[in-house]
Amino acid sequence: MSASPKTSPPPPLGKDLVGLEPLSASQIALILDTATPFKEVSTRRIKKVPVLRGKTVVNLFFEPSTRTRLSFDFAEKRLSADTVHVASSDSSVTKGETLVDTARNLEAMQIDMVVLRHWSAGAAAFLAERIPSNVINAGDGAHEHPTQALLDLFTLRDHFGAIEGLKVCILGDILHSRVARSNIYGLAKMGAEVAVCAPRTLLPAGVEDMGARVFRRVGEAVEWADALNVLRLQLERMRGGFVPSLREYNRVFGVTQERLARAPKPLLILHPGPMNRGVEIDSAVADGPHSVILRQVTNGIAVRMAVLYLLAGGAPSAAESEAARA
Ligand code: CP
Repeated sequence: MSASPKTSPPPPLGKDLVGLEPLSASQIALILDTATPFKEVSTRRIKKVPVLRGKTVVNLFFEPSTRTRLSFDFAEKRLSADTVHVASSDSSVTKGETLVDTARNLEAMQIDMVVLRHWSAGAAAFLAERIPSNVINAGDGAHEHPTQALLDLFTLRDHFGAIEGLKVCILGDILHSRVARSNIYGLAKMGAEVAVCAPRTLLPAGVEDMGARVFRRVGEAVEWADALNVLRLQLERMRGGFVPSLREYNRVFGVTQERLARAPKPLLILHPGPMNRGVEIDSAVADGPHSVILRQVTNGIAVRMAVLYLLAGGAPSAAESEAARA
């Protein structure tokens, strides 16, 4: 990459990616467009381009993760960055060190970017204001998970050809879901119609004000939607009885083949993972012909490559030629 953040014009996304709420539709479209040429890199025998050579990225994870952590790690390595993973469980956080002190020590080791997953809503924005490195939010509490929503948008656009006018229903534990919030912001900005479907206890107050209509029954959602984004119950964030039992939840809100068979057309099925098969989604649906759940995972690497590239000051117009470099 010829440009450096210090000498080039301001990066088109700004310094950090903390959520989709602050982004414009054109910034979201720019990320999706930039991801397209980077997707091809992962299909090569040697999956590497020298775009972020010399950059150091720290993946700082205070919560467990499979997909997001590995996807960022692959994206960084495929862009030739030097990457380090820090988990709170094996760092000095366990001795009481704060997030900011941890990050300042990383800064003292001359890093360039931090990818942060944290249990506290607002942690990524808090850190972004306090360190000069680029900060990317990999999920902060129940606030936002912007790169998950971006890869969901990429997958929808890839399948349908456009996002504008699509009817997308997010179904499940909306209350505790950062994926739902980022998807609602992203879909609405890109011109989709957005709905949510959940038990009353798992709907956040004011969800309609975010631009989503509400369905109380899966049957109504299935009749209306072009695509369902199915979310798991976040039992680890629940204190108290939000649903009578998992069996009861599956009976009333589970996405089953039987329910989908009543839809007027086949629905595209998305799920951010991890799935709880037999609770929010049945295996026949998750593994069925209309599921793009594993395609979402593949697309996640390209989308994260695009975010890293743009935040590092890469020129959007050069993304295609940069991705074509061996
Ligand atoms: N979709 C997602 O964030 O999965 P992980 O928690 O495994 O990263």
